[in-house]
Amino acid sequence: MGYFEEIINRTNSKSVKWDMLDTIFESSDVLPMWVADTDFKAPREVNEALMERAKHGVYGYTIVDNKLKDAIINWNQARHNWEIKPEWLSFSNGVVTSLHIAIQAFTEPGDNILIQTPVYPPFYNVIKTHDRNIVKNPLQYENGAYYIDFNDFEEKLKQGVKAFILCSPHNPVGRVWKKGELEEMARLCLKYDVLILSDEIHGDLVFPGQKHIPIASLSEEIAEQTITCMAPSKTFNLAGLDASYVITSDDEKRKALDISFNKQGFNNSLNTMGNIAMEAAYTYGGPWLNELMELMESHYHYVKESFEKHAPELKVVNSEGTYLLWIDCSALGLSAADLRTFFVKEAKVGLNAGIDYGEEAEQFMRMNIGCPRATLEEAVERMISAVKNR
Ligand SMILES: Cc1ncc(COP(=O)(O)O)c(C=O)c1O
Repeated sequence: MGYFEEIINRTNSKSVKWDMLDTIFESSDVLPMWVADTDFKAPREVNEALMERAKHGVYGYTIVDNKLKDAIINWNQARHNWEIKPEWLSFSNGVVTSLHIAIQAFTEPGDNILIQTPVYPPFYNVIKTHDRNIVKNPLQYENGAYYIDFNDFEEKLKQGVKAFILCSPHNPVGRVWKKGELEEMARLCLKYDVLILSDEIHGDLVFPGQKHIPIASLSEEIAEQTITCMAPSKTFNLAGLDASYVITSDDEKRKALDISFNKQGFNNSLNTMGNIAMEAAYTYGGPWLNELMELMESHYHYVKESFEKHAPELKVVNSEGTYLLWIDCSALGLSAADLRTFFVKEAKVGLNAGIDYGEEAEQFMRMNIGCPRATLEEAVERMISAVKNR
């Protein structure tokens, strides 16, 4: 059986996705296709490295050493053609943590922060928690795909924006931003002196033939305007190991970021298992990831085509990467609350509600396809028969 075909029972594994169904959906009877982790085992070499470390049995304070930094550097060079220097790295338990720290380091209460909606809900929270203002550059939904409205983007920057949280690739709309789009966003951010906080946690998860371009790799000048957050957690299904990193080429900005981390009690380190897993994943995980992304692309086409044929009310938005599908359910004509209830009660699948990603997305749902084909087929069948029987 192929590595990605094995159905692994994740219940009773302290899994947010599988062990919180009653809390999240008020039903234990739904197939969870929500929170963004996958139902796959991490690459074999990662598990072996972790088991080897566990056999050692001592979990004392652990060094972020050059072997780990080299693994990160080599990965980014090989996958993203981005040459980063070891001294540009800071370490963090998570990307959301890093965004909180960066917002505090570089902006003041009352500052305007730009986001492109609909977007990953913690972006709103990162801004609101620190009493900054949310400024939206809504993405344009046209012919089943999303685009940036650059006129609006510039208008918003003109009004005075301190920082822009870029989601690249974009969760939930599945866009892998093209070079021209990134260049234009960067040009405008330089023109209006807007700091780019680039969340590239989905950067490795692009479909075959697509290319993720780290915005900071476009030029030295853009790099110096950018703080990039990356992690192996989405890529290799390691979210529970709490390990991520930040890349800042500008010395002053990196110092300010590290001071902000320090003020919050973080000391530029990683937990032992996160450290081990990150190094093994970046060293050996390439072939595993290639296989994963071929499968995700085929899953995407399978879901899109199945709905087109059997439940055309569910329109899967064009996607270029991630394992998250964004589904336009407007043809069902349901309110946000009724849509959510429909999928839980009638289809018995646990999806993320679009409304959580932006008020413009109340008739959308997000579906996680990071699971074996058999699980996905079960979910798709449940959704089709619920739509047919309504
Ligand atoms: C865009 C984006 N950023 C950050 C995260 C979470 O990152 P972390 O667990 O490292 O805080 C997610 C998880 O879904 C995400 O989609």
